[in-house]
Amino acid sequence: MTHPFTIAIDGPAGAGKGTLARRLADHYRLNLLDTGLTYRAVAYALIQHALPLDNVSAAETAARQVDLAKLDRAVLSAHAVGEAASKVAVFPTVRRILVEKQRDFARTPPGAVLDGRDIGTVVCPDADIKLYVTASAEVRARRRLAEIESIGGTADFAEILADIQRRDERDMGRADSPLKPAADAHLLDTSEMAIEAAFLAAMSVIDDVLAKRNKA
Ligand code: C5P
Repeated sequence: MTHPFTIAIDGPAGAGKGTLARRLADHYRLNLLDTGLTYRAVAYALIQHALPLDNVSAAETAARQVDLAKLDRAVLSAHAVGEAASKVAVFPTVRRILVEKQRDFARTPPGAVLDGRDIGTVVCPDADIKLYVTASAEVRARRRLAEIESIGGTADFAEILADIQRRDERDMGRADSPLKPAADAHLLDTSEMAIEAAFLAAMSVIDDVLAKRNKA
């Protein structure tokens, strides 16, 4: 791999893109950035200071302070933080600040796998590989319920489904950088595909591109 290689992965919450991104970053020895954590960090800072999520200037300040090396998944992964993140993610100025940091990360050798909502469309439109990972809302809700139950929790399927649908609407409906597949993205529907199969499908796309690149 000569210049920094970029794999962009987009898709809705719960489609399996995080797991896929991790597997691909391991396999191809690339850096990994879950860009959702950057929006979560902004939301978390506002929550910590008891500030409303529509305080744009506080959100901008929090965005400037985001340090990609210090994103704490354990703290940021709470469900409520994800919901709050999708509210601060509608502000174009907040997005611009975070996108700059994400692009710097992508430019660092040997390259990176970035996953989010706008990687192939906005953050890295020239990415070597673009994947759009999706699954039906019902399947994503069922997976989330299984995840909660596997750690001894309980939840209501209908509530989880409504939650997922609300988040999809917010992410796909916003004016700035809405969630959508890039025109040149490879679609991976994981509704009826195990993550291992999605990984193999992604690998075959990536290996094709790498083979052509090495021949050029
Ligand atoms: O992927 P995750 O659930 O951690 O993302 C939380 C929220 O952050 C998303 O619902 C979305 O609104 C926002 N986000 C975004 N652009 C990205 C990544 C996440 O707007 N690249």
